[in-house]
Amino acid sequence: MNAERQIGQDRVRVDRPLKVTGTAPYAYEQPTDAPLHLYPLTSSVPRGRVRSIDARAAEALPGVQLVLTQENAPKLLVKADPELYILQSPDVLYWGQFIGAVVADTPEIARHAASLVTVTYDDAPFDAHFRPDHPQAYRPRRVNAFKKTDTHEGDVDAALAHAPVTVDRTYTTPTEYYNPIGPHPVKAIWHDESPLNVIARRLTLYDANQGLIFHLMVLAPMLGLLPAQMIIHTPYVGGSFGTKGMPHAHLILTALAAKTLPGRPVKYAMTRQQMFDTTGYRPESHQRVRLAASADGRLTALTHDAVAPTARWKEFVEQTATSSRIMYAAPNRRTTHRAVPLDIPASMFMCAPGECTGMFALETAMDELAVTLDLDPIELRRRNEPARDPETDHPWSGRHLTQCLTEGARLFGWDQRTPTATRRRCEWHYGMGVAASTYPDQHLLSTWAAVHYRQGRYHVQLQASDIGAGAWTILAQIAADALQVGVDRIHLEIGRSDLPLAIGAGGSMGTYTWGSSIMAAAAQFTHKYGPTPPEGARVQARGLRPRDFRKYSRHAFGAHLAEVRVSRVTGEVRVTRLLGVYDPGRIINPRTANSQFIGGMTMGLSAALHEESYLDPRYGHVVNRDLAGSHIAAHADVPYIQARWIEHPDLAFGPTGAKGIGEIGIVGVPAPIGNAIYNATGKRLRALPFTPDRLLTADADPVSRTP
Ligand code: MOS
Repeated sequence: MNAERQIGQDRVRVDRPLKVTGTAPYAYEQPTDAPLHLYPLTSSVPRGRVRSIDARAAEALPGVQLVLTQENAPKLLVKADPELYILQSPDVLYWGQFIGAVVADTPEIARHAASLVTVTYDDAPFDAHFRPDHPQAYRPRRVNAFKKTDTHEGDVDAALAHAPVTVDRTYTTPTEYYNPIGPHPVKAIWHDESPLNVIARRLTLYDANQGLIFHLMVLAPMLGLLPAQMIIHTPYVGGSFGTKGMPHAHLILTALAAKTLPGRPVKYAMTRQQMFDTTGYRPESHQRVRLAASADGRLTALTHDAVAPTARWKEFVEQTATSSRIMYAAPNRRTTHRAVPLDIPASMFMCAPGECTGMFALETAMDELAVTLDLDPIELRRRNEPARDPETDHPWSGRHLTQCLTEGARLFGWDQRTPTATRRRCEWHYGMGVAASTYPDQHLLSTWAAVHYRQGRYHVQLQASDIGAGAWTILAQIAADALQVGVDRIHLEIGRSDLPLAIGAGGSMGTYTWGSSIMAAAAQFTHKYGPTPPEGARVQARGLRPRDFRKYSRHAFGAHLAEVRVSRVTGEVRVTRLLGVYDPGRIINPRTANSQFIGGMTMGLSAALHEESYLDPRYGHVVNRDLAGSHIAAHADVPYIQARWIEHPDLAFGPTGAKGIGEIGIVGVPAPIGNAIYNATGKRLRALPFTPDRLLTADADPVSRTP
């Protein structure tokens, strides 16, 4: 008792010593006897059938234990997900798809043997060329996160026709890849001591994932196992950003190899190129935004129409226009999403899928409107701040965007900004830009937790996984306060599929959903056992929310402010300062929260300046599929990046009062940078990334007052 309150305290990560000494046991480092090593065979056509595989040279190599192909692979029982249904037929769906694997005593032998396998194909026609006016573009039933595809209210065409001021612009964003540092490591062991007894079969999978429940529920039935016959461990993850949120084919490939070699651990860590080919990506987008406003800057219409490619064989469509549904108070609004089916690898949710791309477009269009109106862009946003959710008419559970903008302006020195190039020095033109950010409550499923008292410590158990954001640390803080004991008496158990069911670390909802269940379990435990529980006492409970949480529109908000300098000579853009001011609900740990914010902002900056991958429409493969050809921000790109927040605990998200902060830092960050480039140069860039060639070839906007 009388323990110091933990929530809100600056706490270093409990896993820090293991991480910095390189001793944290990731999936690949889990100790097992005599592991075997897997290297995949991948398709080199974008669509067709494997005609023949000649593996004789590979099989003859000393140290090779298995060449696995569709001819000898164990059968999978469920076909629901074509991405995972590999080695079951000769069909090839995309370039880089797994068509087999070599398993050998060392990784070097496996890789060399794989290079000795000869594959021939029957090619099939394919289309890997995205264009927004593609004749096969269609309206998906839903977009990602089960959001509505289209919304419509009022008469946008009439409002646009009659408004004194309008903006009608198209914005594009490129294909982007996750590139977590941890290369999807996996180790699988198939236990099959008595082959006739199928119930005795078990699969142990050491994996790196964002959530165990999805992996268990998808993989176990495919492999012919009951959930109880499979255990997944995900002790450390090595970053994710969405890619490890759902299982990818490498897990099935490794499990099939392990099933063929029962009792032997089979390990696989992907190469960077294989990650580009098989573990998802953010699809490119084409977005048209139209705004109509009165002469004093009040929006009368807002439309946002997004088109993006999807794999023909597995639909994924980002919720690109959904933020535009709630941001501003225009009475006439429309949003649409269309998908273009192509013969390409499957895309997936990547950090703020949709919000990140869509807010770039909306918040750039708002800046264009501010220029047209000759109005300060912060003042324009203030004038369009909606009192209630424009789509549902629900009250906000908490919306403090104006406060974030005002505080951001004060901290950043926004009053130094002038409508033309804010400052000049030699070849460099300086400019400032601003944009808003938002991220919704994505709560989908209930989450459970248990408190188990053993040997003087409270074992807090749930299926959460720490993808690197600090769950090991902050969940112990939440548990200590909820149980009213010192944090040293908490023993957190996460990262195993045999723990109480919890949703994964995605959609920025880990902290508030897991925290709710820990608080519920702790409250029941304390109520039942008081301050001196008996040895072995255990309580399991489901996380709860206020009964009426659906009556509120629930979102986090933020303001991003950027200062850039742009070279008149080379078109090079440097972000000299980037500030985020957030409305994140309660902050559990300011140190790990700060890291999440500045991490998101860094990703946004990286998308603004560098990230762009190309899928060659002639061959269907990703051209720049490594970190030499696909650039991301490095330390020199972020000399000054700072996050601040204004705490308004929001209990509609759950009893922790936290709103979730994993993604709000990245949302729309290219917009304030692009808006600052405009302020510096008078050039409006509407295609990401803002590379020197685009700066040099862009014409100055005629309405710009920057010479
Ligand atoms: Mo993440 S894109 O919320 O899995």
